[in-house]
Amino acid sequence: MLELKDLELKFFTEDKEIIVLKKINLVFEKGIIYALTGPNGSGKSSLARMIMGIHRPTTGQIIYKGEEITPLGITERARRGIGYAFQHPARFKGLRVTDILEIAMEHPDNHECPYLREMGLCPDDYLDRPLDDSLSGGEIKRIEVATLLAQDPDLRILDEPEAGIDLWSFEQLTAVIARSHRPDCTTIIISHQERILNMVDEIILLEEGTVAMHGARDRVWPLIRESTRCTCSRDCPERGNFYADCPR
Ligand SMILES: Nc1ncnc2c1ncn2[C@@H]1O[C@H](COP(=O)(O)OP(=O)(O)OP(=O)(O)O)[C@@H](O)[C@H]1O
Ligand SMILES: [Mg+2]
Repeated sequence: MLELKDLELKFFTEDKEIIVLKKINLVFEKGIIYALTGPNGSGKSSLARMIMGIHRPTTGQIIYKGEEITPLGITERARRGIGYAFQHPARFKGLRVTDILEIAMEHPDNHECPYLREMGLCPDDYLDRPLDDSLSGGEIKRIEVATLLAQDPDLRILDEPEAGIDLWSFEQLTAVIARSHRPDCTTIIISHQERILNMVDEIILLEEGTVAMHGARDRVWPLIRESTRCTCSRDCPERGNFYADCPR
């Protein structure tokens, strides 16, 4: 489905060069659910944004469905079936929830709008809401995931879909992601959460812009488990999270 060959990403500021991703070589197969995990700042979102065409790699190639897409922009990549639910979704003044869902859907004729409902939002209450600051962080995140479900791309990337989603809705979120994953599509979930890492087929661990580990969950999981998660006291809000910014 997707092959990343010798990818490198650098950002240039006025006085220095920042190397964010170094020599990334990865193959993502059809039908597999991947988790991309690693410490804050290790380059996970940058990698996702590069696959989506928001950042262009400094060097390297991106091959999608057997064709090189490195020079293509976001719109063409979306047209070819790549979708990305942002870590920090944008708010669009002047647009309503229903507008963004209609843009996402190839055939916007399903007025039932199951996607919002699947994300725990009642369409009657939300379809006409403006996509602005009046929506809470958790609501905008759910709408972002619902939009990706509506788009139903062949390669879908969810960047920390659980962020801001309350504990009670977490199981529903993982169930929706698993249920909507088609055998002919590829799902990449960026996450630090154990419950997400438990539902995937393969785990990729990024550290300082390089792939530190990649393999089947059952093999990779035990290797990274104890060494990387917050294990401080029971009342620590980050307990159980991976590479979280543990305050202690
Ligand atoms: N446009 C940019 N200009 C300069 N540096 C950037 C830019 N975008 C990202 N970076 C840097 O690249 C590094 C990787 O950022 P990225 O957002 O990919 O991390 P991440 O692994 O997604 O982290 P998190 O878990 O906090 O979401 C960070 O050090 C970040 O500051
Ligand atoms: Mg990120």
